[in-house]
Amino acid sequence: MKTVNTIKAVREQVNAWKQAGLKVAFVPTMGNLHAGHMTLLKKANELADKVVASIFVNPLQFGPFEDYDQYPRTPDSDSKKLSDNGCELLFLPSVEEMYPLGREQATLINVPVISEILCGQDRPGHFTGMATVVSKLLNSVQPDIAIFGQKDFQQLMIIRRMVLDLCMPVEILGAKTNREDDGLAMSSRNQYLSQEERQTAPLLYANLRAAANKLKDGDRNFSAIEDECIADLSENGFRPSYFEIRQAEDLQKPQSDAKEFVVITASWLGKARLIDNLVIEV
Ligand code: PAF
Repeated sequence: MKTVNTIKAVREQVNAWKQAGLKVAFVPTMGNLHAGHMTLLKKANELADKVVASIFVNPLQFGPFEDYDQYPRTPDSDSKKLSDNGCELLFLPSVEEMYPLGREQATLINVPVISEILCGQDRPGHFTGMATVVSKLLNSVQPDIAIFGQKDFQQLMIIRRMVLDLCMPVEILGAKTNREDDGLAMSSRNQYLSQEERQTAPLLYANLRAAANKLKDGDRNFSAIEDECIADLSENGFRPSYFEIRQAEDLQKPQSDAKEFVVITASWLGKARLIDNLVIEV
C-alpha cells in the first residue's frame, strides 16, 4: 500500500488507474479502524478494481467542547489493517493540506433542513463540517464510488443529498452496521466506555429492536413507543439526546401509513455518545 499526504499525489494515482480503465472505490475514515471499517473495505474490494482509503480527523466537524483532541489516533495499526484488507492507496492529509486558508476561511457546504434535525440539533455545525470535508475528499480523490457506514444514517442521507444537489460524479453506497456479539454497534467511541458501562451499552440496540418489533406488530403510537424506550434507557444510566421513530425516506416525522421507518437514537453513556439506528419495512 502506498501512502500519500497531498491532494496532487492522490489525484495522480487515481487518474492513472482510471485512465487504465480501472474502477476506483473510496472509503473515507477518521482512523482508529475496527471491524466496521473492514466491512466498508470488503464492499469496496468487491465493487471496484482499486481501493483508496483516507484517514483524516476533521476538526471542522467537532464542536468546541467535543472530543477532537482525545479522538483516538492509531496511524500505525490503521495502516496495517488497511494494507491487509486490500487497500492500495492511503490518503493521509494534514489539516493544512485540507484547509489551506485556515479553518475560519474555509468554504462551507451546508445541506439545509436535514442537517438541522436529530444529531444536527445536538451538535450544531457538525454536519456542515462533515459535508465540507466529504466534498473536499471526494473532489481530491475523484473515485467512481464512495462507501459509508449505515450506522451514521443521517450522515449518509446528507452525503447522498449533497452529491445529488452538487452534481458530483460519484456513486454513494451504504454498508451494513457491524455489531459486537451482544448487539452493540461498533464505533471508535465505544472505547470511552468503562467496563461497567460496556455491559450496559447493548441496551441501546435492545431498545431499538423493541421499538422495531412494536412497529412490525402494527403499533403506531409513536410517542408512547419512544417514551417507553427513553424511560428504560434513562433508568439504566443512559442520557438519551433523542430516541425517535422517523420515516426512513427523509427522516421526517412519520405518517402512520409510512412503509419504511427508522428508529434512530443518540444516547450518552458515561463519556461516550453512542449513535445507532434500525430500519424497518412494514
Ligand atoms: O464517518 C466518519 O468517519 C466521518 O464523518 C467522515 C465521513 C470520514 C468525514 O470526516
